[in-house]
Amino acid sequence: MVVLVGYASAHGSTREIAERIGVRLRERGLANHVRDLEREAVEEPERYEALVLGSAVHDRAWLAPAKDFLRHQGELLETRPVWLFSVGMPGALRGPWKRLAATEGPLILADLPGPPPYRSHRLLSGVVSRDQFPLRGRLLFRLMGCRYGDFRDWAAIDSWADGIAREVTAAFVERRRAAAHSGKSGPIGPWEGPDRTLPTSRHPHQADGNRDDSRVTTN
Ligand SMILES: Cc1cc2nc3c(=O)[nH]c(=O)nc-3n(C[C@H](O)[C@H](O)[C@H](O)COP(=O)(O)O)c2cc1C
Repeated sequence: MVVLVGYASAHGSTREIAERIGVRLRERGLANHVRDLEREAVEEPERYEALVLGSAVHDRAWLAPAKDFLRHQGELLETRPVWLFSVGMPGALRGPWKRLAATEGPLILADLPGPPPYRSHRLLSGVVSRDQFPLRGRLLFRLMGCRYGDFRDWAAIDSWADGIAREVTAAFVERRRAAAHSGKSGPIGPWEGPDRTLPTSRHPHQADGNRDDSRVTTN
């Protein structure tokens, strides 16, 4: 069983987060492929049994390559458990502007094609540096009193990845047991049908106690 960790990154901090998630999943026994959705083809996407997808946030939206992936793989995503992460700059915001971070997650999700079913969405802080912004952006940044820096919270990222590993592994073990029980041999197929162990039909705007899109990692 293989997990896809797909990402779109403009300046590299989302890529490093995706790579870290990949390492963490592997340490917990989950084979995975980390793929740059802009520069690398995702071959045979149907072989992935779970997907962790993320993007840098520009203007409160995912980058086009990550959104395109969601658009093109809509049917596949309906039959797999999906986790989403967005990498923005809540950690750079200060004072009253910090409140903006709480509103950003729902806006990002509302802009995604689909919207895709997902098990949880995390808005993480990335790296914010002066040279990423045009002059107008730098002036606005200064007026807002924001800070430049690397705001990635590796402990929070690790713990989110560990949770994903736990859920995927538990579901996989359960499916193996069910398959052995029913006498079926061969590889375990994808999560399909009404009895799939990890339900995926989660609409971002539904009330759902398991979602954690309100979770924002600010430093
Ligand atoms: C042009 C531009 C627009 C951005 N817009 C947002 C935004 O709307 N919300 C946000 O939280 N962060 C925003 N950011 C901050 C980036 O998302 C942040 O720097 C992130 O770490 C970038 O990830 P990357 O290094 O993978 O490109 C913006 C950055 C740039 C350069």
